[in-house]
Amino acid sequence: MRSFHYFGAILLMFVSVALVVVEARVFTRCELAREMFELGIEKSDLATWICIAHFESKLNTSAIGQLNGKWSNNFGLFQVSDRYWCTSNPLRHSANMCHQVCQELITDDINAAVECAQVVKKRQGWKAWSAYNGVRGLAARLETAMKHVQDTLSTNIIIIMAVVTLRLNRTLE
Ligand SMILES: *[C@@H]1O[C@H](CO)[C@@H](O)[C@H](O)[C@H]1NC(C)=O
Ligand SMILES: *[C@@H]1O[C@H](CO)[C@@H](O)[C@H](O)[C@H]1NC(C)=O
Repeated sequence: MRSFHYFGAILLMFVSVALVVVEARVFTRCELAREMFELGIEKSDLATWICIAHFESKLNTSAIGQLNGKWSNNFGLFQVSDRYWCTSNPLRHSANMCHQVCQELITDDINAAVECAQVVKKRQGWKAWSAYNGVRGLAARLETAMKHVQDTLSTNIIIIMAVVTLRLNRTLE
């Protein structure tokens, strides 16, 4: 019975940790770049996306902006507005051009948020984000930094492949 209690307590601990993890996620710039790249975002756009997310949400997936008070809120990494892009409240009209519930844009799964941000960009371009105009210089610098990350990544992949071949050769011998 006693051990059962211990087991229960440990299980509960894991469950609460899991719940906290699911709630919000704060990315580093490199992590977000990697995940967005894996989602098929153009390499040449990554630096700009990361800049925008940095300025809009501090890379926090759960960010909700209160800037526009009761008229609208902005949601998630790219702070899209519930006036135009997603719907947050049945009593508040939204053009809902992402066909998305805003709450889906603030989870730790960034698929929906990235997809919606692409809809925004397609319709309005980068200038849809006020941050963009102020950060073009920074975007250029980040682009250089990202290139360094990509180079490091490819170096790592080459090393991993070399190790794998080496092991394969050993097995064959
Ligand atoms: C992320 O945003 C949520 C919602 O605003 C906030 O509660 C949380 O503290 C933020 N996390 C960090 C690490 O800033
Ligand atoms: C593995 O073996 C092949 C053929 O014997 C050789 O060309 C290659 O250099 C070897 N690779 C490594 C990492 O030793």
